[in-house]
Amino acid sequence: MGLRFLTSGESHGRGLLAVVEGLPAGIPVSREHLERALARRRRGFGRGGRAAVERDELEVWGGLRDGRTTGAPVGISIANAERELWDEAMNPWAVNAEAARLRAVTSPRPGHADLPGGVKFGHLDMRAVLERASARSTAPRTAAGALAALMLEELGISVRGAVESIGGVTARAPECFEDWARASLSPLGVAFAQDEEALRERIARADEEGDSLGGTFVISIAGAPPGIGSFTEWDRRLDGLLGQAILSIPGIKGVEFGAGFAAAGLPGSQVHDPIVVDGGRWTRPTNRAGGLEGGMSNGGEILVRAAMKPIPTMRRGLPSYDVASRSPSEGHAERGDVCAVPSACVVGEAMAAWTMACAVIEQFGGDRMDDLAQRFMLYRRRAEGWNLHA
Ligand SMILES: Cc1cc2nc3c(=O)[nH]c(=O)nc-3n(C[C@H](O)[C@H](O)[C@H](O)COP(=O)(O)O)c2cc1C
Repeated sequence: MGLRFLTSGESHGRGLLAVVEGLPAGIPVSREHLERALARRRRGFGRGGRAAVERDELEVWGGLRDGRTTGAPVGISIANAERELWDEAMNPWAVNAEAARLRAVTSPRPGHADLPGGVKFGHLDMRAVLERASARSTAPRTAAGALAALMLEELGISVRGAVESIGGVTARAPECFEDWARASLSPLGVAFAQDEEALRERIARADEEGDSLGGTFVISIAGAPPGIGSFTEWDRRLDGLLGQAILSIPGIKGVEFGAGFAAAGLPGSQVHDPIVVDGGRWTRPTNRAGGLEGGMSNGGEILVRAAMKPIPTMRRGLPSYDVASRSPSEGHAERGDVCAVPSACVVGEAMAAWTMACAVIEQFGGDRMDDLAQRFMLYRRRAEGWNLHA
């Protein structure tokens, strides 16, 4: 069956759940690791009041014992901090009509799920849509991805992310291990602290104007041997799987690998990476392919870049139409973020780690982490010197 996870929960309900199935037994997991991933998801400047009040209280319901996975499904719940304030409006059995009316959303926000979701499920109060469409649902995904990242770490594969631009203001891209490490600690997700001020100013200006911003971030998957994923069927291609996973993050509207869109305007001689044998190993002096050829890892660093659109909820709502009064209105304004690119980057890391872990399990299988690691290392050794030694 491979790896899979499901999540449940709403933005202002009791909390969120993730059930992660298929992780091999024996992966070391610490509470701190999971809490750090969730705290990083709340990072940023220009996050709304929500990010500040949420503490992401984590509880493990199964699948972990003595700090290791047991092989059983890992169940994780993350309580919502303000749940008492919403109990009456979000009651699963009988909502208090007056409380629900006060929280009702009848003016759909352009750019959000409100209108198509309301039409689809027949909800005139679109709170029933936005509560689940809200990016709060990326918290349990982040937890699932953090577990996947631990499995990959055991195999020498690391997944990192960095913010490259916000609202048209750019930050320098990471180039070495230390740059990626700094980006993972930066509140704005950037590799160089000197770049933070210009981004902060851009976000503050948008906030003053009642507006919102998007941006771009890049995810690196380092340490994968060649041949993860497959060219043999469309739905086994690693680039396709990574693309779907990153595009599934709310607000992400574009994905590219390596040179990506820029490659479309260049001749092949300036795009494809020469093949060289050096020191008894296959190597590539350049990495414009972003570590992917033929839907497989090629041994280079996998580089996935994502574009996030500006946040749809704005203090100055765009023209909309109120479905209760049937008259023109402004899009609903809910407390929210001005910019969430640094957080989306953390979710991107989680989704990339998840996708990579799925591809590894698919290829090498394993009920036990030590068995999986043994098979994987054998493959890695063979792959790196493939056909170069007598
Ligand atoms: C981490 C994160 C935080 C977000 N915060 C908000 C927010 O506060 N307000 C908002 O309207 N949209 C927010 N979004 C974006 C919306 O969830 C997204 O635009 C919406 O669900 C519609 O989906 P689509 O943009 O993919 O079409 C956030 C997205 C992410 C990844």
